[in-house]
Amino acid sequence: MLAARLAQLLGGKLQHVFFNSSGSEANDTVMRMVRHYWNVSGQPKRQIFISRWNAYHGSTMAGASLGGMKHMHPIGGLPIPGVEHVAQPYKFNEGFNEDEEAFTARVTQEIEDRILTVGPENVAAFIGEPVQGAGGVIIPPKGYWRRVEAICRKYGILLVVDEVITGFGRLGAWFGFQHFGVKPDLVPMAKGLSSGYLPISAVGVSSDIVDVLREKGGDFVHGYTYSGHPVAAAVALKNLEIIEREGLVARVRDDIGPYFAEALKRLDGEPLVGEARSLGLIGAVEIVSKPGTNERFTGKEGKAGPVVRDVCIKNGLMVRGIRDSIVMCPPLIITRAEIDSMVDIIARSLREAAPTLKALKADT
Ligand SMILES: Cc1ncc(COP(=O)(O)O)c(C=O)c1O
Repeated sequence: MLAARLAQLLGGKLQHVFFNSSGSEANDTVMRMVRHYWNVSGQPKRQIFISRWNAYHGSTMAGASLGGMKHMHPIGGLPIPGVEHVAQPYKFNEGFNEDEEAFTARVTQEIEDRILTVGPENVAAFIGEPVQGAGGVIIPPKGYWRRVEAICRKYGILLVVDEVITGFGRLGAWFGFQHFGVKPDLVPMAKGLSSGYLPISAVGVSSDIVDVLREKGGDFVHGYTYSGHPVAAAVALKNLEIIEREGLVARVRDDIGPYFAEALKRLDGEPLVGEARSLGLIGAVEIVSKPGTNERFTGKEGKAGPVVRDVCIKNGLMVRGIRDSIVMCPPLIITRAEIDSMVDIIARSLREAAPTLKALKADT
C-alpha cells in the first residue's frame, strides 16, 4: 500500500519503489541498481556517477563517496572508484559578483565538460539534492535543474534526485523535483517519509529501468533485513495520510513558506548578515564580517556558524551551524508566531555573538 501511494505521489514513470531503512542505504541501492542496469542493458562501461562538491548523500561507502564533503573522504579511503565531483551551485560563496545566468551557465557547463572528459559512454548517472541541505541550504539558481536535466538527456545519462531532505513538502511540493520541474529516473527519499518517527527510506524507480531489470537483470541480489519493515511502512502510510489531510504541502507552498521567506528578510539589515535565504521551509543565514559582501571573519573562515548556533541554542532556538552560516529546517506545522520568534532570536543572537566573532578576527 505504501509503495502504491508513493507511486501516486511520484507520478509519471516513477512507478516502482524499493524500501530501505535510511537515506544512506537508499543511495547504496541507487548505486548498485544503476550500475547493474547499465551492465545488463548492453552498455556496461557506464559506471561513473557525477555528483557535486559539498553534496551530502549519506555516510555509507557509497553514500559518502557520492557525497562531496572532502573532510569525510579520508575516513575509509573514499571516494570509491567511479565517482566524479563537479562545482556546486553555491552562488553566494562561489559566484558572488557573477551575473546569475552566467553563474548557472558556468556550473552546468562544468557538468557537461566533465561528461566529455570522462567520455559519455562511461557515465551512468548524475546525482544531486534539489536543495543541498547538509551542505548549507544551497538553493540553486533559476534554470539550474532544467539545464542539468537537458545535459543528462543529451548524453543518455540517468538523473538521480536525492529527496532525503526535500521530499514530502519541505519545498512546497511533494518532491523537490516537482518544484523545479524535472523528471528524474530514480528518487531516493527518507526522513519526511515517516516524519522521522520510525526509520524507513525508499527509492522511487522509473518503469523504464525496472522493465529492463525484470527482463534481463536476473535476481536483484540486494536487500536489507529491515527493507519494507511492516511497522515502519504502516507509520509512513499514516504519516502521508496526515500530511495530506492537514494540507501541509499546500500550506508550505502558499502560506507558511512565503511567510518564512518574508520573515527572514527582516534580517537583511543586520550588520552580520550577508544573505538570508529560504525555499519552502528550509533556510539559511550567511554570516559575514562586512555587510553587503560575502567576506568572512578573516583567517577564521568556517567558524562563525557554530558560534552563532551556540548563542541561538542558549536563547532557546535550535539551529544548525554549518561553516559560516546557520541553517533551519522547521516542522511543516510551525506557526507564524513561532517563525516571528525564531527570527527575533536569530537577530538577538547575532548581536550577542558579534563581540565573539570580532574577537575571532582579532585573534588572527
Ligand atoms: C540529501 C541526503 N541524502 C542522504 C542522507 C543520508 O540519510 P541517512 O542519514 O538517513 O542515512 C541525508 C541525511 O541527512 C541527506 O540529507
